[in-house]
Amino acid sequence: MSAPKKLFIKTYGCQMNVYDSERMAEALGPSGYVTTDSADDADMILLNTCHIREKAAEKIYSELGRFKPLKAAKPDLKIGVAGCVAQAEGEEIMRRQPMVDLVVGPQSYHRLPALEAKAGGGAKALDTDFPEEDKFDHLAARPKAKRAPTAFLTVQEGCDKFCAFCVVPYTRGAEVSRPVDRILTEARDLVERGVREITLLGQNVNAYHGAGPDGDWSLARLIWDLNGIDGLERIRFTTSHPNDMSDDLIAAHGECEKLMPYLHLPVQSGSDRILKAMNRKHTAESYVRLIERIREARPDILISGDFIVGFPGETDADFDDTMALIEEVNYGQAFSFKYSPRPGTPAAERSMVEAAVADDRLQRLQALITKQQRAIQDAMVGRTVKVLFEKPGRLEGQMVGKSDYLHAVHVTGEVATGDIRPVRITESGPNSLGGEIVAG
Ligand code: 5AD
Ligand code: SF4
Repeated sequence: MSAPKKLFIKTYGCQMNVYDSERMAEALGPSGYVTTDSADDADMILLNTCHIREKAAEKIYSELGRFKPLKAAKPDLKIGVAGCVAQAEGEEIMRRQPMVDLVVGPQSYHRLPALEAKAGGGAKALDTDFPEEDKFDHLAARPKAKRAPTAFLTVQEGCDKFCAFCVVPYTRGAEVSRPVDRILTEARDLVERGVREITLLGQNVNAYHGAGPDGDWSLARLIWDLNGIDGLERIRFTTSHPNDMSDDLIAAHGECEKLMPYLHLPVQSGSDRILKAMNRKHTAESYVRLIERIREARPDILISGDFIVGFPGETDADFDDTMALIEEVNYGQAFSFKYSPRPGTPAAERSMVEAAVADDRLQRLQALITKQQRAIQDAMVGRTVKVLFEKPGRLEGQMVGKSDYLHAVHVTGEVATGDIRPVRITESGPNSLGGEIVAG
């Protein structure tokens, strides 16, 4: 047998991409590839790109530029671009960067082995189709190797919401849900291999409506079934749209014991005028009401959000509305971004808020979020929370894991990766909590 070839994958962006990169590595196993952490000794380099952040394509071009000496030294090296930038600009990438051998969009990863075989030695391979099939079905079965205690599981891809700023409906395509049996099979397989926490992934995960044995299942129905899998201890899901928070999903947060008290529910803005301009199809008031209902079902739930500041047309008064909404909701975690135009989206045609104004707003918003986040974290001190331990910490004898609320927690003591133990929180730092394992 010939020596294995080495595959280096660099992953940008969301958890969906982290998951896809793992699947791509598995798909290329039968073609003789094993993964490596270094681009220098790779036989194939794959950039799994994200288009959601600013200047994504430019960053990919400069990253590719850095691989030029490697390609010059090793002409057989195959270079591929995957992910949302590949989907959006595949042909342009091939034209601008002749050293790229392969371009593959997120819906075509099952065709990666064939594309890899075709590409190289001057031949190019490009696939950015949206086929009508479940790409994960065609990917190689996972080898039965032990896994880390937490895993992602994609249940849904794409989005039909068309928020005016967002490329996802264009790069990932229309909303498609995977059938129930495939998800349950994958979940059981993960659990057999040591996984204790599964995060269900989808760009619009709570719009899930996959085919089940008795008609379409909602996300809540799926979560209830996963709840019955022995050995699976925790269930999470991300990312949700407020308009798809159905009654059964809200109720599940109160009743389903394995569903964790953490919800990422982006609102983007607290101004109805801006929400309308963003085509979000909800108001600030309806979002706040929704949060109230979720908290009625699960009072201790930790709410996380996404915000965009400086959306075209955003005035000081609109921004004040966003700050007021944040005050009202009280976030335990949030991601905030300065608006940046994505070519092809409706908002890209509109005139921008002055950069200095947007910078100032972002700073103020982040200061408020940090304050709330810290207060919620500090209030954990003295409480006992369950922690799923994931890996050794930075200090000798230390282990780190995540609480039910997704706070990073470190302890010193006799625990193993994959253990779930009650921990009494004794300190709150900028990025994590510290505690002591409670005996018994
Ligand atoms: N500009 C700034 N932020 C954006 N996001 C999506 N598109 C843009 C854009 N054009 C943010 C949103 C979304 C998160 C994943 O990224 O807040 O929820
Ligand atoms: Fe993008 Fe999310 Fe809006 Fe869909 S719901 S268009 S993924 S921001």
